[in-house]
Formats: sequence, C-alpha cells, structure tokens
Amino acid sequence: MNPLVISPEQFHDIVLEIAELSTDYLRRLDAMPAFPNVTGQQTQEIFSGPVPEEGLGPEALDALQHVLAFSRPPSPRFYGYVLGSGEPVAAAADLLASILNQNGTAWRSGPAAITIERTVVNWIATAIGCKGFTGSLTGGGSSANTMGLAMAREAKLPANDDGAQPGIVYASSEVHMSTGKAVALLGLGRNNLRLIPVNSRFQMDLDALKKAVGEDRRAGNKAVAIVGSGGTTNTGAIDDLVGIAQVAHEHDLWFHIDGAYGVLAALAAPEKFRGIELADSLSLDPHKWLYQPLDCGLLLYCDAEIARKTFAYSGDYTKSLQTDPVEAYSFFEESQELSRRFRALKVWLSIRYHGLEAFRKSIQRDLDHAQLLAELIRQDSRLELLAPVPLSAVCWRWREGDDAFNARLLKRVIQRGRVYISNATINGRFALRACFVNHRTTEADVRAVVEETIAAAGEVS
Ligand SMILES: Cc1ncc(COP(=O)(O)O)c(C=O)c1O
Repeated sequence: MNPLVISPEQFHDIVLEIAELSTDYLRRLDAMPAFPNVTGQQTQEIFSGPVPEEGLGPEALDALQHVLAFSRPPSPRFYGYVLGSGEPVAAAADLLASILNQNGTAWRSGPAAITIERTVVNWIATAIGCKGFTGSLTGGGSSANTMGLAMAREAKLPANDDGAQPGIVYASSEVHMSTGKAVALLGLGRNNLRLIPVNSRFQMDLDALKKAVGEDRRAGNKAVAIVGSGGTTNTGAIDDLVGIAQVAHEHDLWFHIDGAYGVLAALAAPEKFRGIELADSLSLDPHKWLYQPLDCGLLLYCDAEIARKTFAYSGDYTKSLQTDPVEAYSFFEESQELSRRFRALKVWLSIRYHGLEAFRKSIQRDLDHAQLLAELIRQDSRLELLAPVPLSAVCWRWREGDDAFNARLLKRVIQRGRVYISNATINGRFALRACFVNHRTTEADVRAVVEETIAAAGEVS
C-alpha cells in the first residue's frame, strides 16, 4: 500500500475539520483585528521548524489554528493595496478544483474545466463591454500584463525567432510597476519605457504622449505599444482610453490596457471606461474587484491569431488529434503557461451562486464607500484629500503633519488594529490610502477610517 493513500473516510474527516475551522473563522471575522498581533520572530518560531520525517496524521491539522491566528484576515475593514476580500463560495469551489486536479492545458485534459474557463472568460469580457474578446485566466495582473505586452512585441517587433530588439512602450508616470517589469523581461529595455506625465487628475497627458511618439518617430526609434491605465493603483485614475486608442491607431502601435485594479468596475460604471473595446489587449483581476480568492487574473485580447503567433510552440506530444473546434481547443497555444490550475471553477460557481447583478451592486457599493470617505475627509479640516476619487482608492494626509508624521500615523493606525490601510506617494508627498474592493465593508466600517485616523493622530508625536 502506498503510504500516501488515505481512505475516502479519512478525507471526509479532514474536510469536515477544515470546514469547521473556516466557518468559525468567518463567524469571528468582523471582531478580529485588521492585522494580527504578531512579530516576525514569533512566525519564525512557529512555522520554520524542521521537516517532519514521520507523518503526524490527523494531528498535523492542529497547527492550522496558528495559521489562522497569524494571518492577516480578510476583514471588512481591510483597505490596503488592491486586494479582494475572498468570496467564500469561490473558496469552497477551489477545494473541489484541487480534488478534480484538472489540467487547464487543453480540452482533452479537462473537458469541463476548459469549457467552463472559456465560458467565464466570455461572461467577463461581455460584462465589461468587450464582447467577442477571448483570453485566459492567469496568476494575476502582472502575468496578464506581461503576456499582453508579449503579444504587442510579436505583433509590432517580432522577437520569437531572432530575439528581442529595443522597443519603445509608452505609459503614464502613474503606471503600475508590472509594466516596467514586463518591458524588462521581454527584452524591450526598461530605458525604453517612456513615462508620460499626467494631468491634475493623474491621467496620461495626451499632448505629451503625442509629442513623445513624434520625437521617437523622427529619431528612428522603433515603438511597440501604449499602455493605458484602467485605474491606477495610487488614485484609481482612468486614462482617456478613446484618445490613447486614436494615437495608437494613427501610429500603428499596440494598445494594451492595464485594468488589473479598475476595469471590473465597468460592470457597475461602464461610462467611466469609454474606449475599452478599442484595446488590442487588456488585463483585469477577478482576485481584486470580483472578490475572488487568490489567484485569478485575466488577459483578454481581440485577435486570438496574434496570441497563437506569440505563444504557440508545440512539441509533438501536445499536438491535438481532434478536428472538432471545441475538442481541439488548447489554452497553451494562446498562453505562456502549459499546466494550469482550474481557476475558472471558483469564478463560475461564485457567479452562478450570487448572479452577476450582485457583483454589480457590490462594486457600486465600493464606489459609494470611496465617495463617502472622500466626503468625510473633505468635511474635516484636519485632513487633506490628496487626489480626485474616480474609482475606489482614496488618498489623504494629516494636514498639519509632515511626511514623517504621516508615516508614523499610518503605522499607529495599523497598530490600533481596527482598520488596515496602506500608503502611496501623491505629488511627492506621503499619503494614507484606502482602497475599497471588499464585499464585507459597511458604511460604519468606512466611517471607522476617519475615526481611526483622528484617534491615531492624538497618539503620535
Ligand atoms: C494597476 C495594477 N496593475 C497590475 C497589478 C498587478 O496585479 P497582480 O498583483 O495581480 O499581479 C496591480 C496590483 O495591485 C495593479 O493595481
């Protein structure tokens, strides 16, 4: 008997215990501190022990209580970075996805999994206003941006056969770091990322973009793509997507939208994303604003042929013998990944369970919560709102304090344990930042942000 084999009954006991732990955790979530009271030394002591040579059996699960205790909970008052809140129906589906252990390579490896992923991709593309776009689920927005820019490179400055050449990519100075990483990884050269200045609303300045494109043309520099932001991480600014599409079209450049943070808000507020359908490719993150548990990103594109040109490189063993278009479908021909987990199951079950309208309403609530926080900040003269709030990221500071004071203030707010916020740099100044992509947040939780800022300010010198 293989020592790894467990009986279905043993498995059932394990799942019941995990279900109990998870349910109790969700029950206590609202009362938990937004960050656990724990030090690095403690986590080292608890989790960095030697590998057990002998199995502990069911007792192995005892340590899960420490994992729960020393995790940063998906609290209703977690507003840091851009991180979705982990919808539990989707989480339950993730367990089943691992049991099924389908490989999302091609239909023949997972008939249901592949079909469900294609369905989910189509649902989301249609819901955000990009009907007809196809694509695949990824590990996150960084992967999706890298794959989108790989397609851009192959379309405009092919590199797959003979290697990469320097290639210019334009993006606003507020663009997420994943674009800089992608440009480096793709061999286009980070010095060729032209960071275009932004206007007072933190959107790419179109005149500056046109000027930069013109200068590169005249200098004989080869350009590849323009990356528009569909919600910048710092402030949620959405670039003028129609304007950028026009420049891209005029100069035969690829138009990629980094929508990892914001584009799913098109479900609730499509008018903010005019021009989204003009993109050649776009990234978005269901693990951010569709509240899905990590990980789940999505790359969409309008021309699957270019995805195949970029990513197909099949050995004989992967060649499909099918002729039926459904049965012959292979994600690996359009993706950097070969083995892929069944990410679509959680999204599919979560949307089936709640319905798309519930997600629309939840996103609208996040947008409203951000407006409420902005208004509360405006009403209090001790606080200063540092940027407009087009989506759900709000940046502010303690007016009378310098950057160092505001950094101490942030630390104190987190130490107090009621809300978790993060920081940003806005026009060179240190900002406190709250981002609402959390289906558990209530209006009282939003008010807690201001209450905690004020309380913490009284405790910081
Ligand atoms: C605008 C933007 N793009 C890309 C990313 C990267 O996404 P991921 O963390 O899923 O790789 C983020 C993450 O916050 C983001 O805000």
